[in-house]
Amino acid sequence: MDKFRIKGGNSLFGKVNISGAKNSALPLMCASLLTNDSIKLSNIPTLRDINTLKQLLIKLGAEIIEKPRHLDQYGNEISQELEISVKKIICDIASYDLVKTMRASILVLGPLLARNGIARISMPGGCAIGARPINLHLKGLEAMGTQITIDKGDVIARIPKGKSRLLGANYVMDKVTVTGTENLMMAATLAEGITILDNCACEPEVVDLAELLIKMGAKINGAGTTRITISGVEKLNKASHFVIPDRIETGTILTAVAACKGEVVCENTSVDLLTIVIDKLVESGAKIEQKNNSITIQMEDRPKSISIQTMPYPGFPTDMQAQAMALSSIGNGTTQIVETIFENRFLHASELNRMGAKININNHNAIIEGVDELQGAPVMATDLRASACLVIAGLAAKGETIIDRIYHLDRGYANLEQKLNAIGAMVERI
Ligand code: EPZ
Repeated sequence: MDKFRIKGGNSLFGKVNISGAKNSALPLMCASLLTNDSIKLSNIPTLRDINTLKQLLIKLGAEIIEKPRHLDQYGNEISQELEISVKKIICDIASYDLVKTMRASILVLGPLLARNGIARISMPGGCAIGARPINLHLKGLEAMGTQITIDKGDVIARIPKGKSRLLGANYVMDKVTVTGTENLMMAATLAEGITILDNCACEPEVVDLAELLIKMGAKINGAGTTRITISGVEKLNKASHFVIPDRIETGTILTAVAACKGEVVCENTSVDLLTIVIDKLVESGAKIEQKNNSITIQMEDRPKSISIQTMPYPGFPTDMQAQAMALSSIGNGTTQIVETIFENRFLHASELNRMGAKININNHNAIIEGVDELQGAPVMATDLRASACLVIAGLAAKGETIIDRIYHLDRGYANLEQKLNAIGAMVERI
């Protein structure tokens, strides 16, 4: 099992190329199920989760052509171009062995059902950060006429006998759910009639998916707002699309510079994707500037601690909470971080405390008393963004940090150690 050995204390200088957004690429790839034409996706990040989804789509009937991969100036593969065509659904089962490794597999449910009339998806289990239920996805599909049964841990969804399509419906989601919004929006594109989804997620990845669907011929209004209206069509067609930059990778790199000091340019990304994160980093003392499609960050002093409350977009992203905690652990002052989205997303706090941080957890609240310096130590990654938090802490700490279970990081970051070493970090994969 891979580990990282990090020698901390270096400031960071140079350029980082930001990859395409994981949480956009995944739903975009699932949209290929909605048509028998091919869709071309470029700027797809090279990640484990992308490979897992490729396997699942191929099992369902997809043919995937991978175009030449783009390398950066250091020879690292930065993105790939995929042409996906699902001429025919050859299997309507997404089995547990694949789904358990990646919860986002649930994103095949809506499109597979809308295209094929029946879908059998293993219930994605919970994960370290929470139970991750899918009740709102299922309630929405039932509102559109789907018959849902649970059998041996699988969800079996089918359009009622005698019906050939889902029916447009009005549905208000009890909670803001990103993949719930995406699943239902995809299902509604081929439904009969109009679907109005309320209390939708407004994340940029939802907008990116809507843009591809509209290019494919879908009729969608309101993506990016809390009300999305979809009028169903009979068929969707071929289209091509460039995946938006990964706002969480961008925020992770910027936070690393704020923790380690230095001056770094993040290329192929935009402050518009993470406005509140930028505001908080400026509050911590960073100078940040957007030029063309790059963001430059300069940090000279010890960061000021920043208080955070995670919220659905455009609020502070829960996927940046762990990284912000690493920054505030060496911040000047005491601060509070409130996690309002997931019930168990503070697992990284005890690992930071092993490095000398002073963090107290009380339910959804973390009280962080900034210390002058963290000490390198052996720590363990528990989930994707906790891994990123520990990398940032290791880069800023004095001495050597060994991070175990780094496979969590590989799910969501493309070549992170190469990108960090190119700007002066000392990260070795062992
Ligand atoms: C997406 O997960 C992201 N994943 C997550 O990123 C991200 O943390 C999360 O949105 C929140 O922004 C992808 O886009 C692939 P939710 P998702 O449904 O859609 C509750 C990462 O690090 N809920 O928005 O699964 C749920 O329990 C990952 O890249 C229900 O109760 O999250 C949670 O408390 C981690 N019932 C809240 O809603 C449901 O049916 C938000 O979850 C669905 C969700």
